[in-house]
Amino acid sequence: MSQATPHILHVVGARPNFMKVAPVMRALERRSFRQTLVHTGQHYDVNMSDVFFQQLGIPAPDVNLSVGAGSHACQTADIMTRFEPVVVEHKPDLVLVYGDVNSTVAATLVCAKLRVLVGHVEAGLRSFDRSMPEEINRLVTDQLADLLFTPSEDGDLNLQREGVAADKIHRVGNVMIDSLVRLLPEAIKSANHYLPDRYALVTLHRPSNVDDGGALKGILTSLLEVNRQLPVVFPTHPRTRQRIAEFGLDTTQLRLLDPLPYVEFLGLQRRATVVITDSGGIQEETTYLGVPCLTVRENTERPVTVSLGTNTLVGQDGRRLREELARILENRGKQGVVPALWDGHAADRIADFLAANLRAVS
Ligand code: UD1
Repeated sequence: MSQATPHILHVVGARPNFMKVAPVMRALERRSFRQTLVHTGQHYDVNMSDVFFQQLGIPAPDVNLSVGAGSHACQTADIMTRFEPVVVEHKPDLVLVYGDVNSTVAATLVCAKLRVLVGHVEAGLRSFDRSMPEEINRLVTDQLADLLFTPSEDGDLNLQREGVAADKIHRVGNVMIDSLVRLLPEAIKSANHYLPDRYALVTLHRPSNVDDGGALKGILTSLLEVNRQLPVVFPTHPRTRQRIAEFGLDTTQLRLLDPLPYVEFLGLQRRATVVITDSGGIQEETTYLGVPCLTVRENTERPVTVSLGTNTLVGQDGRRLREELARILENRGKQGVVPALWDGHAADRIADFLAANLRAVS
């Protein structure tokens, strides 16, 4: 008797999810899994969502929950309310969730209550800082998920320490690097004629950096100093753009751009003299590319980017930023290595595991 093909339902919602789901869907497609894609609509702008689907070759979502922006409670609750009937209707054998955004935890909570199997891609990362909304999302998701796919050894150790059974933990490597490896040749071709030869590429969007007027003003003052040595190129997240306007801060000296598509941004990272960021994913991408990264945070849930890679934590302290920048400009910046299993094949390892172990129940 032939076995029915297992049905996997993916949940994505925000920009950093898209480069993670793309390689996993492709790898599962090659193994003929049945797949359904749900977009929660947490990010909804063309340049925060649609353009990523196009460039990464992600199929159009089967379901869009269109939740939009809101407080954490409202956004999470909206996703849960709208996602529950989708799970009941589609009856997936496994739901895959990605990263640490509100969509990740909301979908996981729904599945845990409906007793539907959940797999978390990018499990086990910890900043140990509960003032960060993503840390709460990571802790809850990992406690409830049935399969935990980790990118690096620290993820396994964190989960073991939290009492997660060893047989749920599967170290597969970094799926985001799969997308980078695949699209890097295109990114190299994406010339940016309007850019100087040397520049600092900046992104900022963490609530701790941009929601407080004083903190944001301090960081922008440091960036103006950087700009005197190295032109600052700053694709600006909608949250940050809103706060700059709200606090009436002057950014006329800095090159503020709209958020960029994946390929163009990757091209900019690769050519940057230094990247200054508070993003999680960009700490990893710069480590892979060997580009120095100064992270405007006191902690990171991605410690291998500091211990092995090119990342340095500078916090909101302008003096630390200046010192590290001086080192980089004198070519004494950190030299890193690429962590194990960040090799472009993490999604294949997930798909191989599921092909061997997941059975259709419905
Ligand atoms: C979310 C994730 C964060 C991730 C980031 C990447 C959570 C808790 N946070 O933060 O982990 O690093 O995405 O971008 O899930 N907005 C738009 N257009 C959009 C999306 C958002 O204008 O397409 C505006 C909204 O007005 C919203 C604000 O940006 O109020 C913030 O969006 P939100 O989804 O709440 O969180 P992010 O800061 O994007």
